[in-house]
Amino acid sequence: MSDSPAATPKVVVRSAVVADAKPIMTLVNELAMQQVMLPRSPASVIENIRDFIVAEVDGQLAGCGALAVTWTDIAEIRSLAVHPAMQKHGIGRTLVDALIQDARRLGVPRLFAFTYVPGFFAKVGFTQCQHEDLPHKVFNDCMHCPKFLACDEIAMTRVLDAKASPAKLFGKPQRAIPLPQRTPSFAPPTLEKPGKG
Ligand SMILES: CC(C)(COP(=O)(O)OP(=O)(O)OC[C@H]1O[C@@H](n2cnc3c(N)ncnc32)[C@H](O)[C@@H]1OP(=O)(O)O)[C@@H](O)C(=O)NCCC(=O)NCCS
Repeated sequence: MSDSPAATPKVVVRSAVVADAKPIMTLVNELAMQQVMLPRSPASVIENIRDFIVAEVDGQLAGCGALAVTWTDIAEIRSLAVHPAMQKHGIGRTLVDALIQDARRLGVPRLFAFTYVPGFFAKVGFTQCQHEDLPHKVFNDCMHCPKFLACDEIAMTRVLDAKASPAKLFGKPQRAIPLPQRTPSFAPPTLEKPGKG
């Protein structure tokens, strides 16, 4: 009998397709029931299936993760999950590397994640930051979260392109859509003095 450690599984990472939506939901929501990550609704997985990648071992879903572009200078790593039986085999890191590659392809210079496992994200190059350090836009989805007013997730961030600061990406701060000229279509009512008669 050999004492050699278990062989590293052969992992295939690919873009998700609609048939992956159900197994992704099952994996994420089973882990969410253990309070280690947030749940995803069927609609949020199916509508955002193009954000997802999956890791397969022997043709079975072993993990998943999503890259959600939030704005021109930032994207979120979301719903990163590895099947409990497959954890600590490098699959989480492989998924993050693939999401980073996709972020680079898209020209996204900075990533963030909200997580309960800062130690893992530190291992894959993220550093902890304050929620307030992230742009307001990233909190859009938080409004739909049951923990909105009591968020206990830790914010982590990783810069992919330090030269692409928001100022360089946007130039001077300006309105995305110019406001139309205000042309009142009615005259404001004039107050008449209490009348005689
Ligand atoms: C967090 C998670 C995705 C990590 O996946 P994984 O496949 O087990 O991670 P890896 O094997 O690729 O680990 C990469 C490194 O991180 C370390 N690591 C893994 N999980 C860790 C944890 N919970 N805390 C601290 N370090 C961790 C590993 O030891 C490894 O370190 P090394 O490179 O020095 O050997 C997985 O544990 C998981 O699905 N957890 C439940 C869901 C979750 O917490 N998702 C996080 C996003 S919200």
